[in-house]
Amino acid sequence: MLTLTDIADDPLVLTRRLRLRDGSRAVLRPLVHADVKRLADFLAGLSPESRRLSTFDGYDLAAARELCDAIARYDKLRLVLEDESSERIVGLFELSLALTASDIARYRVAGIPLTERTDCRFGPTLADAYQGSGVGSLVIPFVMEAVRRLGRTRVILWGGVLADNARALRFYEKNGFRLVGPFIGPDGTPSLDMILSLPLHLPPRPA
Ligand SMILES: CC(C)(COP(=O)(O)OP(=O)(O)OC[C@H]1O[C@@H](n2cnc3c(N)ncnc32)[C@H](O)[C@@H]1OP(=O)(O)O)[C@@H](O)C(=O)NCCC(=O)NCCS
Repeated sequence: MLTLTDIADDPLVLTRRLRLRDGSRAVLRPLVHADVKRLADFLAGLSPESRRLSTFDGYDLAAARELCDAIARYDKLRLVLEDESSERIVGLFELSLALTASDIARYRVAGIPLTERTDCRFGPTLADAYQGSGVGSLVIPFVMEAVRRLGRTRVILWGGVLADNARALRFYEKNGFRLVGPFIGPDGTPSLDMILSLPLHLPPRPA
């Protein structure tokens, strides 16, 4: 089983080359310390609507530095999707190995006891130009491979999904997540909890 330290020491263990539908090449790999500027460009490039759907603490160099400083220090694994020719980050796939008390309480009410032995949190964000063309569905099996290698077997949505985020809802549903129930997010927004139990079959082979 991999630890976050193993991954930080050797990011190649979770590095995969992918070919996108438009024929371009991309690399999915762990965020590394040298990514600060690239990550800042990615965050700064997110439109107001993307920021509403997927919220970060900030969208500038300081926010990017904070995410890079967190590598292997806490409970988070961040995978980035990098366009191979431009070396721009075009997606950020976040996993947290920690659960919050409010997540645990909501899922308990829904009859699903969560534990950090089995469960983790997931939140995906693609650059605006990459949304809605199958990139998320191409990448998700590799993110789930990382989940398995971290020893977890179930994935809940990090902070849920906004109830009006129809594309994300369809994306999660078609990738095997099931609806757990509605809740009101911290800023009063109607949201939905969803969970994925990883199937037992083997993860896909790298491209
Ligand atoms: C959510 C996200 C990661 C999904 O990745 P993606 O590459 O866009 O997703 P895919 O193209 O693989 O799948 C999207 C599905 O939704 C469908 N879809 C697109 N727009 C839709 C809409 N307005 N209503 C309903 N379905 C919609 C697509 O047709 C596709 O389904 P299909 O394959 O059955 O046709 C990406 O859109 C994203 O980063 N969005 C902005 C940030 C965000 O919302 N993050 C999630 C926060 S919980």
